[in-house]
Amino acid sequence: RINHRPGGRTIRGWPHGHFYNRLQKSIAVARCAFRRPSLSPLFQGQLLRAPAPPALTVIASDMQAVDRLIHDSLHTGVPLVAEVSQHLIAAGGKRLRPALLLLTAGALGYAGTGHHRLAAVVEFIHTATLLHDDVVDESSLRRGLPTANARFGNPASVLVGDFLYTRAFQMMVQAQDMRVMQILADATNTIAEGEVMQLLHLGNAAVDEADYLRVIRAKTAKLFEASARLGAVLAGSDAPREEQCARYGQALGTAFQIIDDVLDYDGTVDDLGKNLGDDLREGKPTLPLILALQMGTSQQASRLREAIAQSQSGLAPADIAALLHDVLCIVRDSGALEAARAQARMQADAAVSALDGWPDNAHVHALRELAQSLQHRTA
Ligand code: IPE
Ligand code: IPE
Ligand code: MG
Ligand code: MG
Repeated sequence: RINHRPGGRTIRGWPHGHFYNRLQKSIAVARCAFRRPSLSPLFQGQLLRAPAPPALTVIASDMQAVDRLIHDSLHTGVPLVAEVSQHLIAAGGKRLRPALLLLTAGALGYAGTGHHRLAAVVEFIHTATLLHDDVVDESSLRRGLPTANARFGNPASVLVGDFLYTRAFQMMVQAQDMRVMQILADATNTIAEGEVMQLLHLGNAAVDEADYLRVIRAKTAKLFEASARLGAVLAGSDAPREEQCARYGQALGTAFQIIDDVLDYDGTVDDLGKNLGDDLREGKPTLPLILALQMGTSQQASRLREAIAQSQSGLAPADIAALLHDVLCIVRDSGALEAARAQARMQADAAVSALDGWPDNAHVHALRELAQSLQHRTA
C-alpha cells in the first residue's frame, strides 16, 4: 500500500509493487518534481521517497514533461476558469490516457518530443468530459473531492469543461498535422454521442449487452483508442500497426469501463474517490445490472426492473438507500459481478493479443502489463 497522492490521499487496494501502483508512483514522482508554489494547495502533498520502478522509468520523465505542460497550459485571465480547472486537475487522476499515448509512441520507436503536448491534449479532453459528466450524472464526489459541480455549480462546470475542450483544440492545432486533428476531433465527437446514447438508455431495463457495449466503446474506449493510435501516428508506423494500436486501445478502454461499472457496485468510496451506486441512482443500466437481469431468478429480475423504474422517480434519500441495498444484494447474489469481470478479462486479453508480434521492448512490456493489471484495479 502506498501513500503518495497529492493532498495525501492513499491509493489502496492494489498489491504493493503492482504495475498499476507503480504507474501511479511514477506519475506522482512527475508531479512532485514540478510542484510549484503557484499551483493549487492540493499540490503541496508529501514528496515520494521511492524512485520510479524500472518498468515505468520508461515513461517517468515523459510524464513529468506532460504534467508540466498540463499545468503550464491552463493559463487564463479569468480566475474562475483557473480555479475550477485546477480544482479537478490538481486532485490528480490516474493520467492513463496520456500514459497510453506515451507508451505506444515509445513502443514504436518515436524519438521526438511532440508526444508530450498530445498527451496533455488527451488528458484535457478527458478532464472536460469529467466536468460535463459529473453535471449530467449529478455526481458529488470525484478524485476524493467534491465534484466541480458540487463546489462551483453546474454553469461553471459546463463552461470550464468547454474551456478545457477548446484549450485542447488550441494545443492540438500546434501539431500542424491533419491526421492528428482528425483522430482527436472524431474521438471527441464520438464521446459526446456515447454520452447522449447513454442518456437515452436511462431507466430502460430492456437495454442489452450490445447496447451497453456500443455506449462504452463511444464514451470511454474511443479516447483510449485515439490515445493509442496517436502514438502510432507520431511514430510514423504503417497502417496495420496503427490498427493494432487502435484495437489495443479500444479493448483496454472497454475493459476499463466494465471494471468501473463493477466498482460502482463492488468498490469502496475511499479507493475510488467516487460515490458508489451512482449508476443505479440514475437508472443507468450498466453491465452488472444487465447481467443480473439475465442471471437472476424471475423474482429477482422483476425486483431489478422495478428498481430501475423507481430510480427515475425522484425518491427520497432513505428510499434510494433501501433500493440500492436490495439491488446490490441481487447483483452480488446472481453472479453478475463475476460475469462482468470475466468480460473485462476477455477484453484485456484481446488488448494483449493486439500486440502479438510486436518488438520486445520496455514500452511494449509495459503495455502488456497495463492490460493485465487494469482488470484488478480497485481505484
Ligand atoms: C473516469 O476515468 C471516467 C471513466 C471512463 C470511468 P478515470 O478513472 O481514468 O478517471 P481519473 O482521471 O483517473 O480520475
Ligand atoms: C465517464 O462515465 C464519463 C465518460 C467516459 C465521458 P461514467 O459516468 O460511467 O464514469 P464515472 O463513474 O462518472 O467516472
Ligand atoms: Mg459519471
Ligand atoms: Mg461509473
